[in-house]
Amino acid sequence: MMQDWFKKAKLGIFAHYGIYAVGDVSESWSFHNGNISYEDYMKQCEGFTASKYDPKQWAALFKRAGARYAVLTAKHHDGVALFDTQYSDLSVVKKTPAGRDLIAPYTEAMREAGLKVGIYFSLIDWSDPRYRSVYPEGEKPEDHLKDVFATPAGGPEDPEKWEEFLQFNNNQLRELMTNYGTVDLLWFDGDWERSANQWKCPEFRAYLHSLNPNVIINSRLQGYGDYETPEQGIPLYGPRGVWEFCTTINTSWGYRPSDNDYKTSRMIVRMFCDCLTLGGNMLLDVGPKEDGTLDPRQVKILEDLGDWIHDNEEAVYDTGKGLDYRHFLGGSTLSEDRRTIYLFVYDKPSEYICLKGIKTPVKRVSVLHTGEELPFRYTGALPWSGIPGTLWIKGDEMTPHPMVTVLKVELDGEITYNLGHGEVVTNND
Ligand code: GLC
Repeated sequence: MMQDWFKKAKLGIFAHYGIYAVGDVSESWSFHNGNISYEDYMKQCEGFTASKYDPKQWAALFKRAGARYAVLTAKHHDGVALFDTQYSDLSVVKKTPAGRDLIAPYTEAMREAGLKVGIYFSLIDWSDPRYRSVYPEGEKPEDHLKDVFATPAGGPEDPEKWEEFLQFNNNQLRELMTNYGTVDLLWFDGDWERSANQWKCPEFRAYLHSLNPNVIINSRLQGYGDYETPEQGIPLYGPRGVWEFCTTINTSWGYRPSDNDYKTSRMIVRMFCDCLTLGGNMLLDVGPKEDGTLDPRQVKILEDLGDWIHDNEEAVYDTGKGLDYRHFLGGSTLSEDRRTIYLFVYDKPSEYICLKGIKTPVKRVSVLHTGEELPFRYTGALPWSGIPGTLWIKGDEMTPHPMVTVLKVELDGEITYNLGHGEVVTNND
């Protein structure tokens, strides 16, 4: 069920933490795609220590980054649980030197820091033979003879085993939703290998709500969730309804020492601004090392993003979707009372910054992080015929923010627009 806190949260931190941080391989996909054998992939268990795992430190960092919620991988497609489950031996508790439940301290630390608690749970379990007992709807065994771990390895379907698998997922989810206090958000993944019918989505959703009626569920549940989750590529138009864009900091979800392809802090801030402009949240991923610590480059990006948010808080939380890019060639948000526009200026202006089609007169323009007032003027305004004219804000002398400069444009009332495509003026008062 969608909750207000989520719409206002704007930023969450995703953490892909698991045995895949041991070797230099991608989470689960590496064995699925045949880059490493299943046996070698699972050998990573031996090196997973969580020896410096301190989710309180994570929580402090996530808060400093400006996040309001976190999502941790309780189980990825490899099926290795980060929690102490009685329904499988495949967990970091039983199979790795870490030897303990990692979800409990995470949920406690996040809650204590005032962050909402999110749990990522893969519906796919490429380690469980029962998962491989049923083919994707409409497909035949011979389509899958080669996919050992993806989809069934050939042989007859076994609907009873599939039922058992669904029960297994339900059991693990009950553990997650009842043993760790309130879970605010369930982030499913991997719905695509089976149909809504096969996942029994309506019943499944009802089951989850019976455990917590307020839990938010993402839409990777064949559409039976509460919000869309575009991934890696920022949508050009915001999806309908509530949404959250998830992205890596480099190119990997989990920790890979060889991945040095980092985005810059400015890029991340810019991407965050794009999400705000289009009315979505951003879920920024970190990939902790096997010992539970974070690469300093990831920490730095979170801190930089936090600094920017801190300097411009007013333009971030308690705001809604911004202006269409036709009004302003940049990002923006609108205050809840719709009397203030926050413009995101990405580059240093060489003269004027221009805003078009806003009918409500502007009272004042200032640079948000410094408070300095900026001069502005209108050209082409014909108020008697409803043409607001173009607002020109003098921007070349302002003090820019090192990341993205926010201009606060205060209006003389609630925002109204002129969306005309140019009119002939027939009455010159
Ligand atoms: C993809 C991948 C997965 C990753 C997820 C995060 O769907 O399957 O590895 O966890 O994206 O959004």
